[in-house]
Amino acid sequence: LTATSLALSALPVMAQTEAIDNGALREEAKGVFEAIPGKMTAIKQTEDNPEGVPLTAEKIELGKVLFFDPRMSSSGLISCQTCHNVGLGGVDGLPTSIGHGWQKGPRNAPTMLNAIFNAAQFWDGRAADLAEQAKGPVQAGVEMSNTPDQVVKTINSMPEYVEAFKAAFPEEADPVTFDNFAAAIEQFEATLITPNSAFDRFLAGDDAAMTDQEKRGLQAFMETGCTACHYGVNFGGQDYHPFGLIAKPGAEVLPAGDTGRFEVTRTTDDEYVFRAAPLRNVALTAPYFHSGVVWELAEAVKIMSSAQIGTELTDQQAEDITAFLGTLTGEQPVIDHPILPVRTETTPLPTP
Ligand code: HEM
Ligand code: HEM
Repeated sequence: LTATSLALSALPVMAQTEAIDNGALREEAKGVFEAIPGKMTAIKQTEDNPEGVPLTAEKIELGKVLFFDPRMSSSGLISCQTCHNVGLGGVDGLPTSIGHGWQKGPRNAPTMLNAIFNAAQFWDGRAADLAEQAKGPVQAGVEMSNTPDQVVKTINSMPEYVEAFKAAFPEEADPVTFDNFAAAIEQFEATLITPNSAFDRFLAGDDAAMTDQEKRGLQAFMETGCTACHYGVNFGGQDYHPFGLIAKPGAEVLPAGDTGRFEVTRTTDDEYVFRAAPLRNVALTAPYFHSGVVWELAEAVKIMSSAQIGTELTDQQAEDITAFLGTLTGEQPVIDHPILPVRTETTPLPTP
């Protein structure tokens, strides 16, 4: 210790100047979190099928084309990319999404980046996986407002698509199905991961990957109990908790009309219960919460501390945690916009 640091450590702001034990911090973090893998090669690993379902280049490429194709919506205007913009951290940056006919949906669009690591999809976890999830927006009146039959008809009207489905599902006689549409999108989404964040580099042993403030934020995130809900590879996305466990946030943040998991399970215990939001890339995905009303991450952090852990964070702690959350921004996938198959005479026309 130098004379200056000794002098500083005598000041009341101890936490700011205390030397950080990188090794101990890393070990503690390793017990709670996991790094994002560099590459995905398979999904849906289970005990019975530990190898899982392999990702294939053909399925991924097909899924990418479908993800960007607005003709999967009845208006011909809206694609997955509209609300899950790969250049915007996987979100639309709106409080709640705008879909078919300029209708405002009820919830904020969560990012699809790293969604493959969530135990279940949606704010209320009502879809078990990404394939089940992908069937939702296509049919939702406020999103793409289409029908599975119409999607299959649209795909079948373009020979390039039919070829791509045959190449992606070579073992199937009639591969153009709504299930395969969803399975291909799921494979593409499984590649949308963001490895090598500053936090992941720190976890891997690089002391210099995080600043002292970010490290203090990590420490505070673990010490104050955020990790009871935000843990694992995605810092959340694993289980469900009442939003307002300790104190209900105001009706603006937690609108009475959206009871969360109650609508899925119909048990009173699940009123206003939501999936612990995954926090990877959270600095890129404002506005926050399922209501999308909070634009500043520091404010979202403070709301969480009073609503979920019941200890008011000091301003310094909130700033440190916010700085730490910024280290969860990983390398964003760079996606070339695909050239979409050309329509034919039989391609269904857009309907307003
Ligand atoms: C949720 C993908 C189209 C708005 C999600 C999630 C994924 C996803 C993976 C769950 C993420 C999570 O829970 O962490 C897709 C795909 C689409 C598509 C593959 C195309 C087939 C759209 C469109 C809109 C939209 C067009 C906007 C009009 C939303 C919203 C949610 C959501 C608001 C949260 C809904 C809730 O929790 O109830 N989407 N999406 N999505 N998406 Fe999409
Ligand atoms: C959402 C941080 C503690 C459960 C969020 C969000 C942030 C955050 C930034 C918004 C993410 C987004 O909208 O994309 C924190 C911090 C915590 C903390 C810094 C500690 C001070 C907790 C605890 C629980 C919890 C202890 C469970 C008891 C949730 C849930 C949501 C959420 C359920 C989703 C809320 C919604 O429906 O909008 N958290 N959290 N959090 N967190 Fe926490």
